[in-house]
Amino acid sequence: MVHVTLVATSLDSSSKSQHLARHAAGLFAERGIPHTLLDLRDSPELARPLELATHIIFAVPIYNFDVNAAAKQVIEDHGGALEGKTVGFLCQAGGQRSYMSVMSFANALMLDFRCWIVPRFVYATGNDFDEGQLGETVRGRIEELVETLLKGN
Ligand SMILES: Cc1cc2nc3c(=O)[nH]c(=O)nc-3n(C[C@H](O)[C@H](O)[C@H](O)COP(=O)(O)O)c2cc1C
Repeated sequence: MVHVTLVATSLDSSSKSQHLARHAAGLFAERGIPHTLLDLRDSPELARPLELATHIIFAVPIYNFDVNAAAKQVIEDHGGALEGKTVGFLCQAGGQRSYMSVMSFANALMLDFRCWIVPRFVYATGNDFDEGQLGETVRGRIEELVETLLKGN
């Protein structure tokens, strides 16, 4: 039984990656796929929804050429619950040059926790938003990620 848990790790009150996560959650809802959205700004209980998940999406902000510290803490505190699961990424950055920044996080999930990493991730910048709304191109990319995630393990 598929259950997708989305972990939106930005703690910023005006976060854009939180928008990416909500858009993806809406696509799972449209498809009737059971899912849970965890917004770390609300300090949610993580253990059970991560255990329950068959598939996980991390929606992360890029800080200093890496994911933010709150995302890393999820691995530090709950890595065991991620073991062997299929994981995709929605990344929000300020510019194009940090495109590979999610890779050390992906490597840790792959090599330490045997996760299956979806070989397609969304990388959005401020240019993908128009007056706070997600642009068509990035919406298409999120849809592709959702489809690829569900086709995986
Ligand atoms: C401390 C800090 C470091 C950042 N480092 C990068 C970076 O290395 N590369 C980049 O493209 N954007 C960087 N940014 C811009 C953020 O990725 C951008 O503000 C993004 O919207 C953050 O996601 P959020 O809106 O979901 O919080 C940085 C922002 C901050 C506050």
